[in-house]
Amino acid sequence: MSGIEAARQVLRDNDRGGYSVPTDRLYPFQWNWDSAFVAMGFATFDPGRAWSEIEWLLRGQWEDGLVPQIVFHAPADTYFPGPEVWGIRREPPTSGITQPPVLATAARRVLAASPGPEGEARMAAVYPRLRDSHRWWAAARDPGGTGLVATLHPWETGMDNSPAWDAALDRVPTDTRTEIRRRDTSHVDPAFRPRAIDYQRFIHLVEVFRDAGWDPARMLAASPFRVADVGTNAILLRAEQDLLALADRFGSPAEAAEIAARIDRAAPALEKLWDAARGHYLSRDLVSGEAIPVRTSAGFLPLFAGQAGHAAALADTLRRWAEAARFRVPSTDPGHPLFEPLRYWRGPVWAVVNWMIAEGLRRCGEVALAEAVAADTRALIAAGGFSEYFDPRTGQGIGGATFSWTAAVALLLEPGAA
Ligand code: DGY
Repeated sequence: MSGIEAARQVLRDNDRGGYSVPTDRLYPFQWNWDSAFVAMGFATFDPGRAWSEIEWLLRGQWEDGLVPQIVFHAPADTYFPGPEVWGIRREPPTSGITQPPVLATAARRVLAASPGPEGEARMAAVYPRLRDSHRWWAAARDPGGTGLVATLHPWETGMDNSPAWDAALDRVPTDTRTEIRRRDTSHVDPAFRPRAIDYQRFIHLVEVFRDAGWDPARMLAASPFRVADVGTNAILLRAEQDLLALADRFGSPAEAAEIAARIDRAAPALEKLWDAARGHYLSRDLVSGEAIPVRTSAGFLPLFAGQAGHAAALADTLRRWAEAARFRVPSTDPGHPLFEPLRYWRGPVWAVVNWMIAEGLRRCGEVALAEAVAADTRALIAAGGFSEYFDPRTGQGIGGATFSWTAAVALLLEPGAA
């Protein structure tokens, strides 16, 4: 089987009748940012199925615009925390937090792969939902209009146990009323997953939000974990640019003006996360007000939003990281004392982040380096399979196997991909 056919087969195998699971058993539901990448992957060979991925995710959207992190379309007992822990009575059940908003970017790409009346009609139905989700980000997570949105749970950043969150997480109590019955560590070596104490804090935060009745203002006020994640903010800025292009065709002039105004606030606010002393974009702890002094792969993502002012410095950093760890892009600076090459978001390479960084480098004029990051990603997948993540020193595939979003990236990195 060719590499392309193998990648398509992973997407077909993880299809649960219109939506995809990230991988069998370890993640048996539909995840928000996973599905955005899956949609882009399907768009390279089956645009109709790509639309379906987005439409199924939006079945879980809340009335206030929130697109949840997880939609529990069908019961499964191989994942913790399931719907009973979130305690949210909706149909379909969902979690009550979100994830990095790649969706508008994905939808625009799916549209480009499906010109003609069917693509237009499906986009016309999806556009208002995307508009509402971006309004939710502004209203729920940046009510003061600073231009930077807050994330309230490490799961919302998608980079759950990044060392960038250690100090902010230390503020979160470890007691829980919920019995923690992890299932992930029976699927994957615990050395590759977050620690037990991390889960105690993750679940404590879920309980804080449950006690706040899932009300956005109460959650924002009550959360002991509140960060302006550079990754989420860069992805959102990029998604706003894509939404603006869609609004010109599917929305009203007033909506386009509203999105443009948010972009005008977000772009300079994101620039303020540049830390000249450390030569990197850094997340900010919104409780202490301090920059979080850990360089991570998220710090390259402003390139994905077209922020080119520091492209040359970021390119130098990527070259240095490649000397310390053979495969780019480690999720944490390989020179940092908290770098752990095998443990989830504390060091391993993630194909989806690489794809966004390569796209950003290309957009910001660093074309040769973009190709080098893409080549590293192809080499990792060729050697380590469609793994969840990869050891940046050896290229070994780790975490879950046959991962949807890694297969999607393999398809996106094919020359001439839609
Ligand atoms: C998990 O459970 O590991 C996920 O990252 C949460 O989204």
